[in-house]
Amino acid sequence: MPRRFENLLVTGGAGFIGVNFIRWLFTQPDCPRRIINVDKLTYAGNPLSLLDLEKSVGERYVFRKADICDAAAMKEVIETYAVDAIAHFAAESHVDRSIVAPDDFVRTNIIGTYTLLQAAREHAAQIKLFHHVSTDEVFGSLGPAGFFTEETPYAPNSPYSASKAASDHLVRAYHETYGLPTTLSNCSNNYGPYQFPEKLIPLMILNASEGKPLPVYGDGMNVRDWLFVTDHCAAIWQVMQHAAPGATYNVGGRNELPNLRVVEKICDLVDAKAPPLPNGQPRRSLITFVKDRPGHDRRYAIDCAKIERDLGWQPAETWETGFARTVDWYLQNTEWCAQVRSGEYQKWIATHYG
Ligand code: NAD
Ligand code: DAU
Repeated sequence: MPRRFENLLVTGGAGFIGVNFIRWLFTQPDCPRRIINVDKLTYAGNPLSLLDLEKSVGERYVFRKADICDAAAMKEVIETYAVDAIAHFAAESHVDRSIVAPDDFVRTNIIGTYTLLQAAREHAAQIKLFHHVSTDEVFGSLGPAGFFTEETPYAPNSPYSASKAASDHLVRAYHETYGLPTTLSNCSNNYGPYQFPEKLIPLMILNASEGKPLPVYGDGMNVRDWLFVTDHCAAIWQVMQHAAPGATYNVGGRNELPNLRVVEKICDLVDAKAPPLPNGQPRRSLITFVKDRPGHDRRYAIDCAKIERDLGWQPAETWETGFARTVDWYLQNTEWCAQVRSGEYQKWIATHYG
């Protein structure tokens, strides 16, 4: 029997994957009665992405601006809303930022996860499940062959991935030591709507449409395994409903691509779908090779046989369908993109949430 939840706490639900998860879950027949979204609204959190949903589902959706490092706030939310499950997405998520300023990564990803685990432990009688959303980056970098499995030893290379690895270990420890019912998923690179345009795909789509340079790190031959975001959401929900306590699952798209191929494909799609550049040049002429990211992991590739076998999960989108949808979304949702690019959404947050 699948687990059923009444009041699901989603942390980081105003970020890219959290927004998609909440939107997707409300379309599912087994959606919990109420979803409580706790988000600090850093630069990456944008509640405007959920404004239409907030109106359509009414009291079934609650938003609370709070920091997951704030133990009193986490206790208050869990008690006020009788939270019986937690899907923990909140994190600092951008590798480049973690290289420049690791502080917030250590604070939110490690101390924040610890604070939330502790709050869950203190409400053990009511918490049926704590799901931790993590990344394949904890496994480090692959050579030209091989895949990350659930047994691959951790070898994080960036402050971001090291902070996520630490949070994964804390989740494991809270299960082993205190018997907290936890599950954990390690996913590859997501793409899709509502992603902050500091990450490769939205940055390149928007720069290409505006005729700006497309900065490709190093030789552009670093490989990522791309998965459409709602396929990740479905995988998380499968794990939350069916996985044994303490289980971990890898999630990936079986869709390895070098960065340069991704950027070239974006150029070609934007050429086909957007007005031509003023000089008539193809968008590929905007590609600019720039200095490499320090410690840049060469290749990620996920072996997702376990989640396919145990839980019957399969991605619904192919790279072709998901990618075309994604490019269309950024070209069509000009208001969302302009608000995020200009920082206008931050003014809205200041007015509504202080
Ligand atoms: P994101 O940066 O878009 O969103 C993160 C959200 O967390 C934002 O809304 C932000 O305001 C919130 N947040 C940050 N610090 C907080 C704090 N202290 N308290 C409360 N909220 C806080 O990130 P994302 O891409 O949506 O990633 C979500 C999760 O999925 C992360 O844990 C990330 O490590 C993991 N993940 C991401 C990917 C990917 O490709 N994007 C892949 C695998 C795993
Ligand atoms: O693998 C999962 C991870 O994927 C998640 O845990 C992270 O939260 C998420 O940000 C993502 O990390 P990456 O570092 O892989 O994503 P990013 O979009 O920053 O970069 C993807 C690849 O593109 C990477 O090899 C670096 C390269 N890149 C990125 C940017 C922003 C460029 O060449 N140019 C760029 O301007």
